Amino acid sequence: MNPPHIPVLRDAVLEILAPKAGGRYVDGTFGAGGYSEAILNAADCLVWGIDRDPDALSLGRAMVERFAGRLTLIEGNYGAMDRLLEARGVSAVDGVALDIGISSMQVDRAERGFSFRDGPLDMRMSQRGETAADLVNTLPEGALADLIHELGEERFARRIAAAIVRSRPFDRTAELARIVRKAIPSKGDGSGKGDRIDPATRTFQALRIAVNDEIGELKRGLGAAERLLAPGGRLAVVSFHSLEDRPIKLFLQRRSGRAPAGSRHLPESAEPRAPSFRLLTNKPLVAGDVELAANPRARSAKLRAAERSAAPAWPADLAMGEAA
Ligand SMILES: C[S@@+](CC[C@H](N)C(=O)[O-])C[C@H]1O[C@@H](n2cnc3c(N)ncnc32)[C@H](O)[C@@H]1O
Repeated sequence: MNPPHIPVLRDAVLEILAPKAGGRYVDGTFGAGGYSEAILNAADCLVWGIDRDPDALSLGRAMVERFAGRLTLIEGNYGAMDRLLEARGVSAVDGVALDIGISSMQVDRAERGFSFRDGPLDMRMSQRGETAADLVNTLPEGALADLIHELGEERFARRIAAAIVRSRPFDRTAELARIVRKAIPSKGDGSGKGDRIDPATRTFQALRIAVNDEIGELKRGLGAAERLLAPGGRLAVVSFHSLEDRPIKLFLQRRSGRAPAGSRHLPESAEPRAPSFRLLTNKPLVAGDVELAANPRARSAKLRAAERSAAPAWPADLAMGEAA
């Protein structure tokens, strides 16, 4: 059987967090527990593993037993990690790791609806709320096109949205993949067809990000980590495409005093704020050749990291989509 998930950039994340005995760490995207396990093996510390997918937590129970008393699993959104930990009596931690996106376990199970293999058009990590089928079958054509354009960075978004609207209702991943492939002009005309990736990839990505409000969660999660980290505590965030990397980069630049803090909600004339983070990575860290050979998923992974200062957490910047 294939291993369920190969943890991307695990050693680099571990080096950043540098777990110490008695330390407290949050793995905000527990998944198959690869980061949690590495942290727990590195030092006699405590880990809280958060995941919104109940299946990930069920599989993690064996690990909870193995690390008797040192690993606590929490079902919920990492965007609320400060509140989730507070509810368990923890107000500060020494490290937070985030490995954004979906796990191999989720992609590999056709019934979760994340892959092109035929399954229900679901895509919900939490297995609750609106599905991808709800979105494709109910959104007005213009809104669907905007979503596919913005969250999939898909230049044929309008054609795809029109084709979806013509074909609906439908509720299978294979149907969506077929509709998208057909809507995209064929190879030789400068279109996406003939690319290394399946032409439906970008539309699937857009729907997945929308269904799970992934960018909103990311922005909330960065603010929550800022509030939860103790001075000297470290944040390590791994992301897989520019839509995710951009808000991480911007957040860390601003909080470390590398970018103007001014915004509609936090005017430049206001007293300058003391940086709440010190950047540990000027450029994102990426996987080396050995890791790439073993794990193609690491190809587009980027790790950004920062260390919390003693300055108070900044108020949420609503212009950045952050939420307190
Ligand atoms: C890429 S996998 C993490 C893999 C993990 N680092 C490992 O080594 O096994 C991402 C996991 O985070 C979870 N996840 C994604 N967004 C989340 C969120 N906002 N809150 C909680 N869990 C989330 C997904 O359900 C998935 O299990």
